[in-house]
Amino acid sequence: MAFLFNSDAVRAKIFATEFARELPSLSFFTDAGSVDPAAVRYLLTWTAPPDLERYVNLEVLFSIGAGVDQFALDRLKKRVKLVRMIEDGITRMMQEYVTLAVLALHRDLPGYLNQQRAGEWRGRPVRQAAERRVGVMGLGNLGRAALDRLGPFGFPLAGWSRSPHEVPGVTCYHGESGLADFLAKQDILICLLPLTAETHGILDASLFSKLPLGAGLVHAGRGPQLDTDALVAALESGQLAGAVLDVTDPEPLSAEHPLWRHPKVIITPHIASVTQPETAAKTVVANIRRHEAGLELVGLVDRDRGY
Ligand code: GLV
Repeated sequence: MAFLFNSDAVRAKIFATEFARELPSLSFFTDAGSVDPAAVRYLLTWTAPPDLERYVNLEVLFSIGAGVDQFALDRLKKRVKLVRMIEDGITRMMQEYVTLAVLALHRDLPGYLNQQRAGEWRGRPVRQAAERRVGVMGLGNLGRAALDRLGPFGFPLAGWSRSPHEVPGVTCYHGESGLADFLAKQDILICLLPLTAETHGILDASLFSKLPLGAGLVHAGRGPQLDTDALVAALESGQLAGAVLDVTDPEPLSAEHPLWRHPKVIITPHIASVTQPETAAKTVVANIRRHEAGLELVGLVDRDRGY
């Protein structure tokens, strides 16, 4: 029985050490050419290899990242379990990024960066956190963790998701019918949705128009969820006051795209959260134990939902 690890050498070393200690009976491979494909029960990778069909006894396909939209789900045999990465390192980094971005918009960091470039020493209007409503789209592991970290600042918190959720201290909305009501009450909107057919292009002109005038956007979901032209238009009209973007479509954003130099925008190159091998290796080991014990896997993807 084999585990095939398809990622970089630095991560491979950390995983190999953890697997040797915790699962010594499972052979650990990093080179697809040196393993009998029929022996591979577990594959950890970012994208599906072109010869995925060779792994006829594959039981679990682990994504090295939090998302699984990079896999063509219809190419994957129904019996193969697909698992997204839910691990402490990713969660903590996303909490940091969302906090950084929300505070940057709340305290008007884009405005001060522009003033600094102009050598201008001038205080800008400020609002109390209690008067800045913050809402997260996507109430999965990352969305809930982000809200948890924002709580102590005193922002009124809300969340929207496809299906009903209950999160203490957070006003929860759900479904198509709850979306407009949710949006109307958010001064800073954070997108942490998975990319699916339903969320493709969801951050568009119509959605922006439902936010209060002068709202901010934090986008750390997936690039294709955002209509960048609509964002530029919303920033120009003042409908949106600022945006912090970690993902775009394409990535990188084309060199001449107006968002790069937009005075109300901060862009980071898809670094909000990255799988941390030390914690991820422990999570994958625990999940293999669960699989072998016939228990439900943490992060198991529902193929019909797409996340
Ligand atoms: C990063 O975007 C990930 O999916 O982990």
